[in-house]
Amino acid sequence: MGNYWWYITVLDRGSVPSEECEEILYSAAEISGSIGTEVQELPDGVRMRIYYRGDQELPIWRNRLLAALDPWPGIRIEDIGKVENQPWAVQSEEAFPPLDVGDSLVVLAPWHRDNAPGDRIPLYINPASAFGTGYHESTQVVLRLMERYFADRSRHGARVGDVIDVGTGSGILTIAALKLGANRAVSRDLDPAVIGEARNNLELNGVDMDRVTLEAGDLLEGVGGAFDLVLANILADPLVQMLHDVRRVMKPDGLAIFSGMIEREREGFLEAMGAAGLEAVDELQVEDWWGVSAKNQA
Ligand SMILES: C[S@@+](CC[C@H](N)C(=O)[O-])C[C@H]1O[C@@H](n2cnc3c(N)ncnc32)[C@H](O)[C@@H]1O
Repeated sequence: MGNYWWYITVLDRGSVPSEECEEILYSAAEISGSIGTEVQELPDGVRMRIYYRGDQELPIWRNRLLAALDPWPGIRIEDIGKVENQPWAVQSEEAFPPLDVGDSLVVLAPWHRDNAPGDRIPLYINPASAFGTGYHESTQVVLRLMERYFADRSRHGARVGDVIDVGTGSGILTIAALKLGANRAVSRDLDPAVIGEARNNLELNGVDMDRVTLEAGDLLEGVGGAFDLVLANILADPLVQMLHDVRRVMKPDGLAIFSGMIEREREGFLEAMGAAGLEAVDELQVEDWWGVSAKNQA
């Protein structure tokens, strides 16, 4: 990791109401892989400085941020630059309290190990790692849909064998799937820099690394095998792009959980799913973020 950070400052002068704009900017920052933010409220709008790790080229971060902000053309980039490393690790201790998700999961930072609540399954994630601290609604959507799926399988006495986690980031979905009872996982990400961070988080959770294949890769490209569960929390465009490959890698009675879309993308995505031979069996919205569980059409 470089000893500097990139930053991108974005500005909105009232194209979106301030409170909503802050939420949009926080979400866009997190979904594009940011490591920290600073917000400034202006009399007529909002300015946010969004920081990224220095181990990737700036255009990669910029393109991800622009993709996340695409639905809001009034929000524009004001400034781009480089700063010396900042003590995020120290700041984040206060910023990451335990977070209950669904009925049975709790997301915890490593320093909560000694006082973890005993009645929930702990998912330990280093908050300074890649996207997937659990605080983003799109991650919570997958975790909750996944929890329902595992509960349903267990009611029917059926086990979950192989899982593939596309866009693993911090590895949080893989960790949850294995702790909820899956046997093995393939966890992949387009960004090779996150693989080491996912491994650290898996180890932090005591996951047996023989059960996980961690790899860099684009969506489902080059993936073979037959998975019981396909997980993908990315953005709408790459999800639509990967849909036509899902049936190829999913068992006939398998399930795919897609997340990372906003409410207004729901209808278009359901249509694209239908065209790819998939049908919705469950769905969930948390704040503006929407996700869906899908199986092969009968
Ligand atoms: C929204 S984060 C999700 C992280 C984590 N799985 C979670 O649910 O919190 C999306 C992740 O997908 C990765 N990604 C983006 N485009 C991808 C692609 N075409 N193929 C594989 N991974 C991709 C990003 O690098 C990022 O780590």
